[in-house]
Amino acid sequence: YNNGLARTPQRGWNTWNSYGCSISEDVILDAAQAIVDEGLDRLGYEYVIIDDCWQGARRDNDTGIIPADAVRFPNGLRHVVERIHALGLKAGIYSSAGTMTCGRRIGSLDHETTDANAWAADGFDYLKYDNCFNQGRSGTPDLSHARYDAMSKALNQTGRPILYSMCNWGEDAPWLFATEIANSWRMSGDIYPSFDRDDDRCPCTDITQCKLHGYHCSIAKILEFAAPLGQKAYPGAWNDLDMLEVGNTGLSLDESLVHFSMWAMLKSPLILGNDVTAMTNQTRAIIANTHVLALSDDPTGSPAIRLWKKPVSSSSSSSSSSGGNVQLWKMPLDNGTYAVAAVNLSPEAHTLSIDFDDVFYDEHLENDDAAQRSWDAFDLWSGVDFHTFDPTPAPYDRIRLDASPFSRSIPNIT
Ligand code: GLA
Repeated sequence: YNNGLARTPQRGWNTWNSYGCSISEDVILDAAQAIVDEGLDRLGYEYVIIDDCWQGARRDNDTGIIPADAVRFPNGLRHVVERIHALGLKAGIYSSAGTMTCGRRIGSLDHETTDANAWAADGFDYLKYDNCFNQGRSGTPDLSHARYDAMSKALNQTGRPILYSMCNWGEDAPWLFATEIANSWRMSGDIYPSFDRDDDRCPCTDITQCKLHGYHCSIAKILEFAAPLGQKAYPGAWNDLDMLEVGNTGLSLDESLVHFSMWAMLKSPLILGNDVTAMTNQTRAIIANTHVLALSDDPTGSPAIRLWKKPVSSSSSSSSSSGGNVQLWKMPLDNGTYAVAAVNLSPEAHTLSIDFDDVFYDEHLENDDAAQRSWDAFDLWSGVDFHTFDPTPAPYDRIRLDASPFSRSIPNIT
């Protein structure tokens, strides 16, 4: 989608994962200030996005505009946007391509032009557009396309550059049509801070259960959904694996490292979902790892592909769960190098041997034998070299954010 925006996956912060509906002018402006104080703006986290529950009870009788909730936003939305802009950041808003939002607030279906014009007039730079209460206008790509295209056109005709983030949870295969109308599209149910590999809430097939427990997906499940979809994305049009849970209760340090690394490898938008006003050093070190952020910013714009996924057996025979699996991903980078991720989705530590011929095979070279060449390797998290790769991420005391790359040749490793 070429509206000039999101040439690399967008970065920012969104209210939903930490605050849900408990939002206000103060919550948003405190977060915006913290983003600047923490220097996250200089790392590209530029959008401050107001998710659901900002809306007042009914549209304005005269203008048809959705007003902001007067208690939560006593000075109105425009004031909040101005304050965000004054900090050098950009502002995002949320609505739904339905009669109501998922939080049962007023939706934008059939009011696209009015709402887009109102948000442009207030100075918004970003719209997240959800899928609840869509009046049965889903079930085929055509039906979903019509609703989401109406808002795409409405945003364009405002003349203001507004990043368009579609949120229809992968329903109706958005990757088939969203590349033409939106900067990113969600491809799964809502993330929650868990790595549950056997997550039976996702995909949610029993509609009663879905409504009761929400359409939630664990991080491991979202990764699985994303695995075949990388080829659909390109600069200006990205798969959205949903907002980050780094820094939220429920994930171990290792899980947070894997979560953040893979969202960067897969070129997902990197939208923080934690309380940025109260971050631990660990959270800060993860989201500010410039080596990993550089993967997201790489000009090739090609998401990582999964080379293989192998089941592993659990050593504990009493364990009722499966052993899980290990996976190897690779992403060619613009400077001719590769990023490689070994992902361990099992409850236990495993040592992976990576065959360099698998990873670095170059189909353009005759008689290519990657194992006979020498390679420079750099671990983006610990800053150290490796021979036999241990997929357990480095412990925190080994994370050196400023570690400079080094050169070392690695002979004949399989
Ligand atoms: C849906 C979206 C979430 C969030 C909520 C708000 O569930 O997928 O990301 O925006 O709605 O109600």
